[in-house]
Amino acid sequence: MSQLANDLSSYWMPFTSNRAFKADPRMLVAADGVHYTTQDGRRILDGAAGLWCVNAGHARREIADAIAAQAMALDYAPNFQMGHPLAFEVASRVARLAPEGMSSVFLTNSGSESVDTALKMALAYWRAKGEGQRTHFIGRERGYHGVGFGGMSVGGIGNNRKQFAALLPAVSHLPHTHDLAHNAFSRGQPAHGAAFANELERLLALHGDRVAAVIIEPVAGSTGVLVPPVGYLERIAELCRKAGVLLIFDEVITGFGRLGASFAARRFGVTPDMITMAKGLTNGTIPMGAVAVRQEVHDTVVNGAAAGIEFFHGYTYSGHPLACAAALASLDIHENQALNQRSRDLESAFEDALHGLARLPGVIDVRNIGLMGAVELKPSASGIGARGMKVFHRCFDTGALVRVTGDIIALSPPLTITEDEIRQVADVLAAAISAEAA
Ligand SMILES: Cc1ncc(COP(=O)(O)O)c(C=O)c1O
Repeated sequence: MSQLANDLSSYWMPFTSNRAFKADPRMLVAADGVHYTTQDGRRILDGAAGLWCVNAGHARREIADAIAAQAMALDYAPNFQMGHPLAFEVASRVARLAPEGMSSVFLTNSGSESVDTALKMALAYWRAKGEGQRTHFIGRERGYHGVGFGGMSVGGIGNNRKQFAALLPAVSHLPHTHDLAHNAFSRGQPAHGAAFANELERLLALHGDRVAAVIIEPVAGSTGVLVPPVGYLERIAELCRKAGVLLIFDEVITGFGRLGASFAARRFGVTPDMITMAKGLTNGTIPMGAVAVRQEVHDTVVNGAAAGIEFFHGYTYSGHPLACAAALASLDIHENQALNQRSRDLESAFEDALHGLARLPGVIDVRNIGLMGAVELKPSASGIGARGMKVFHRCFDTGALVRVTGDIIALSPPLTITEDEIRQVADVLAAAISAEAA
């Protein structure tokens, strides 16, 4: 099998500047531990856990072996009106990791599918309760909930929406919580901004008994790591509870140790009605997502239905045996190697390394929580995103994969990284920021 792609033209790449990439490709051909190997043979540190997903590090033998063995034991099994044991086991394991009472788990293949599944569950729930008029969703500006029509509609990133006119008809958005005037250079949760949650009170008053659910990321990831202000999530949850509206936490990034706990819900002590997840569930090896729901949500939809199929939703690959094998092996690694604890132990070194970049030219914010953080740069005269992209390229050329969104550089290394390697990533980033300051 050749490692050299000699024709780049056919592949229409996702979320990529195709023309720029194909003119100057960045190819990865191997990975192990916290390193990638590029096509020209360079090893680069993975400061992004791939795409926020390789939490246990690359090339984990246990996961690879489990996938290979499963491919020969039961390569595929339908999950409609049939079952196989691993899917039930994954669901039970995920339920045990979720906050108490979130004991029912639906399996999907991605974060986007998890989000659209959760939105459909919310609609089905209200119909089953005789409140089928509740079809309005509340998302948040700068939220990212994947690329399905549901997730795109509740999402709040303009560029992800503007090419596509058709969105869900009834959606409102909370304001985002990014407030540099008060919170720049916060370590952990910013002190100011819980009051941003009060906008929910107004939206709930306006849309009343038509609201089905509120969906937010506990820490907004893709938009550039927006950490919730102290008290913000608690206030959102309180308002949802008072109004009797479902609360969905989208934990596609924040799940599986990123914040030093199985889920952000546990770290923050705020329990929603549903949690969407993906990425770290299988350590990024085989696509898989899931939605964990409060038992009452499940029971209302399932036990309240007439005999027959209770929820007309699912994917050919829901609970795919290979994904299940990968998930179980990943969850074993998390447990056996206490990765949540490791993430917590590394948090202050990660924080110090990132905040060590605060005085570099052009840096207007540094923020962090758990093992996710961001350095925000002042846009250059060439326009928004130009400096960020240059820093991203320079990091790649000089030894580290980071994530870029606009002029924000995000870091989310594998939880298996060492303190020394964290500092190496920070050093590469510091040099790149300094070099692109002009
Ligand atoms: C919070 C959140 N939700 C949903 C998604 C979409 O996940 P996927 O790309 O697996 O569809 C992402 C992806 O980054 C995400 O961060």
